[in-house]
Amino acid sequence: MTKKKILLTRRWPETVEQRLSADYDATLNTDDVPMGTEAIGAALNDYDAVCPTVSDKLPASMFTGNHRAQILGNFGVGFNHIDIAAATGAGLTVTNTPGVLTDCTADTALTLMLMLARRAGEGERELRAGSWTGWRPTHMMGTRLRGKVLGIVGMGRIGIATAKRAHAAFGMKIVYYNLVDVPEEHIADMGALRMDTVEDVLKASDVVSLHIPGGGDNTHLMNAERLALIGPDGMLINTARGDVIDQTALIAALKDGKIGGAGLDVFEGEPDVPAELIAMENTVLLPHLGSATRETREDMGNMVADNLDAFFAGKPVPNPVS
Ligand code: DGY
Repeated sequence: MTKKKILLTRRWPETVEQRLSADYDATLNTDDVPMGTEAIGAALNDYDAVCPTVSDKLPASMFTGNHRAQILGNFGVGFNHIDIAAATGAGLTVTNTPGVLTDCTADTALTLMLMLARRAGEGERELRAGSWTGWRPTHMMGTRLRGKVLGIVGMGRIGIATAKRAHAAFGMKIVYYNLVDVPEEHIADMGALRMDTVEDVLKASDVVSLHIPGGGDNTHLMNAERLALIGPDGMLINTARGDVIDQTALIAALKDGKIGGAGLDVFEGEPDVPAELIAMENTVLLPHLGSATRETREDMGNMVADNLDAFFAGKPVPNPVS
């Protein structure tokens, strides 16, 4: 039987590329240069499956004609880079990779939180610059996390995993905002307190961590007014999507001392990061590393492969996005 033709738009973990190359007529992007929207659009006519990821853009204009491709196997849980309505409207099945990156993304949120609270980036920069003059009682004092209030905006899988870690490891109190009810068994052992509005969470928290999808109504959810509610000692952590924060407003809030600091793993307009954010000492900036462990990236790739296998075997896909 002829193998189905599939395209991976970026380099994937080797074990997954090997699996897919054995089972499919797979085109790999061995140079790992982003393909661009036009080339991905053209690929829809040449391949049975196109497997994009978060660094690609698949707008509605890509899904206007009749395509050979029947499925988009997205490498990633977030899918705001794909116009889902247009893709599914054009008859494509779209799948994603939920669950397998929960722990690693929560770990990254905690990494940012600790680095920011304990001024770890700033300290490392000082030491590497040869400017450290030795221990002294008032040197680079940060903020103790124990007993502080962590506000979670978006209490889904990753929000819950972040809250659990912060509560268990640092004794943080948890408040949260979520659109829908969160099953009691997920939050009972933390004594997490649900709040009626995002604003309530911002006002009640010492640290706010965002765990909501990007795009749509969440675009610029964290605007100038809401950022100011976090307060001059408050910290904002974002491992979700860059566009959920109005980045210009964030820069102004940090400059004006309206919020204490920001730990960011995601940015508007990635991979560009404004020079102003880079120049600030009260920011911790990571290059979208949330899911970046070997184990998780392999799990993500294998999940895409499982979805393709099911689809081409005529079975329901395990992780449909609609
Ligand atoms: C995702 O999967 O959406 C992440 O942002 C990439 O790890």
